[in-house]
Amino acid sequence: MQQSESTKPFRNERSGRTYRNKRYSGWSQRWVDRREQVLAARLLDEQGTGSGDHVIDMPCGYGRFFPLLRSKGLHVSAMDQSAAMVSLYRENTGFDDARDHAERADILEALPAKAASAGRAFCIRLFQHLHHSELRVTALRTLAGNRRRIVLTYYDDGCLHYWTKRVEAWLKGQKVRIKMIPRADFEAEVAQAGLKIVKRIMLLPGIHAQTWVLLAPADEH
Ligand SMILES: C[S@@+](CC[C@H](N)C(=O)[O-])C[C@H]1O[C@@H](n2cnc3c(N)ncnc32)[C@H](O)[C@@H]1O
Repeated sequence: MQQSESTKPFRNERSGRTYRNKRYSGWSQRWVDRREQVLAARLLDEQGTGSGDHVIDMPCGYGRFFPLLRSKGLHVSAMDQSAAMVSLYRENTGFDDARDHAERADILEALPAKAASAGRAFCIRLFQHLHHSELRVTALRTLAGNRRRIVLTYYDDGCLHYWTKRVEAWLKGQKVRIKMIPRADFEAEVAQAGLKIVKRIMLLPGIHAQTWVLLAPADEH
């Protein structure tokens, strides 16, 4: 099973820079970004992540969460399938090659050696682009190696957002490009990867599909 090429964007630095400058510039998206930063901080704390810990940020994008990870004193391994995004990530203030590591990598393949020792993982806004269960379980297994605790987002289908996206796509005569996952399916995929859900928080309960979870090894007490 292959990931669709349309879900692997940012082939060049120009498209990455345009995305970085525009994606969260509107008022509603600025609000979403602020709320995501709050939830990320809360779940990193629940994950027990503290200064000096090594965390995987994948997919890292241009580094939207790097200031937060840095503010918590983390040592970051940032990876993305887009080389352009990895190079933008390195431009973040405070990125330090002696402590941090950024490299092109695919979550559906083995992790680069420099990331393998990380005890924490942070995976934001990827799962809505993985349209098949098999791909999501592979991604979960990549993140779960080394008994990592994982902060991750996915889109849950049980809300109004599911229907607004469908109506919007129908009006535009397009296919829905975002995969919203039934809760029971996501829970089964988490279990298949040897993980359990410790905490779940909705971005905007009942209205927005984005769901934040803290995952841990299934046998952790
Ligand atoms: C919506 S962005 C999210 C980036 C960042 N986590 C954030 O929230 O700002 C999705 C990213 O996933 C990356 N991506 C897509 N498929 C991937 C894969 N198989 N392995 C690693 N990165 C992937 C894309 O290149 C893109 O940068």
